[in-house]
Amino acid sequence: MSAVTDHFLAVFGEDPEGVWESPGRVNLIGEHTDYNDGLVLPIALPQRTYAAARRRADGLVRLSSTAGGGVTEVALHDIAPGVPDGWGRYAAGVLWALREAGHLVGGIDVAIDSTVPIGAGLSSSAALEGAVAAAASDLFGLGLLADDGTRATLAALCQKAENVIAGAPTGGMDQAASLRCTAGHAILLDCRNGHVSQIPFELEQHGLVLLVIDTRAEHELSDGQYGKRRSACERAAKELGVASLRDVPYSHLADALHRLEHDPELFKRTQHVVSEIQRVRDTVEALEDGELAEVGLLFTASHLSLRDDFEVSCDELDLAVDTAIEAGALGARMTGGGFGGSAIALVPSRLVPGVEMAVLSAYEHHGFTKPAFFRATPAGGARRTQ
Ligand code: GLA
Repeated sequence: MSAVTDHFLAVFGEDPEGVWESPGRVNLIGEHTDYNDGLVLPIALPQRTYAAARRRADGLVRLSSTAGGGVTEVALHDIAPGVPDGWGRYAAGVLWALREAGHLVGGIDVAIDSTVPIGAGLSSSAALEGAVAAAASDLFGLGLLADDGTRATLAALCQKAENVIAGAPTGGMDQAASLRCTAGHAILLDCRNGHVSQIPFELEQHGLVLLVIDTRAEHELSDGQYGKRRSACERAAKELGVASLRDVPYSHLADALHRLEHDPELFKRTQHVVSEIQRVRDTVEALEDGELAEVGLLFTASHLSLRDDFEVSCDELDLAVDTAIEAGALGARMTGGGFGGSAIALVPSRLVPGVEMAVLSAYEHHGFTKPAFFRATPAGGARRTQ
């Protein structure tokens, strides 16, 4: 935290008015369901993005990160799709979205420091948006951190910033996780109506660890693959005569698939989304019953569905998942958008070193970049730190 205040002082020549933080996330299950009005089950991570900020009187936005790249400067009224460029568009986009929604937001200087690994599929962009949103809400007296309801509004604005200004057609899971999670819990988010239930997620009492394996394989959401998956889902819903794939109950999946037999792409995407939404329900039930072995099986089933039906995995993710399971994990899956990024594995504590060793040596054997590991614990959402 002092890194971000020091950076603010060094770049902008005075102290910030405060510091705000917002976390990265790991999604336990419910992948590529958010933009289908489905269910997701993410936790917030202890890894966070910090924003030190101070208001300005002249309508300018100045942004600087401890990661380098100098100062990005843009006038509030110039913020538009693709403007400014680089990471600054996620931050400036939030101010744009707040203003679009009628909030009185003025100029601001912001320094950023982050412990969320970038490009690892752990929502570094949502963490950045959440930190800037939290700072703007407090500094301009908007009160949007007050309760879960106002945080839901703020999360929706952060998603709009990402969709419109950063140009990434993502759903709303990451921003909701960053702003609405509480320590010790996963959130069961119903993306149809924004409703959140806090689901206790305490692995320690079961002698388990949620191990994150950052594959270091490249991951980029603003490329075309994510958008292609999203539009295939929309086409499938249209063919089935429903508003979204959420409207296909699991009990009607066979029927729906029968109607999509002529189009293998739509068939597979629908198979994934409808079964994945059911797996979220089953996971919540298994967690509530303390059936952690069942949770592991659901993780692995989710991965196979993402690999074979949604086709968003990659060799590095598959190797991490297969190796972790062979080395004793109860289950494992890719998490986040896919095409690289991170995998998660549910591992008995005493087997963690063995799983890490096995994954390291499998990666070396395949000539893949060395992966990174950490143990994920469910932390709280965005807040003022200082
Ligand atoms: C990315 C997006 C989310 C979600 C996931 C896949 O993380 O930002 O909205 O769609 O991919 O579940």
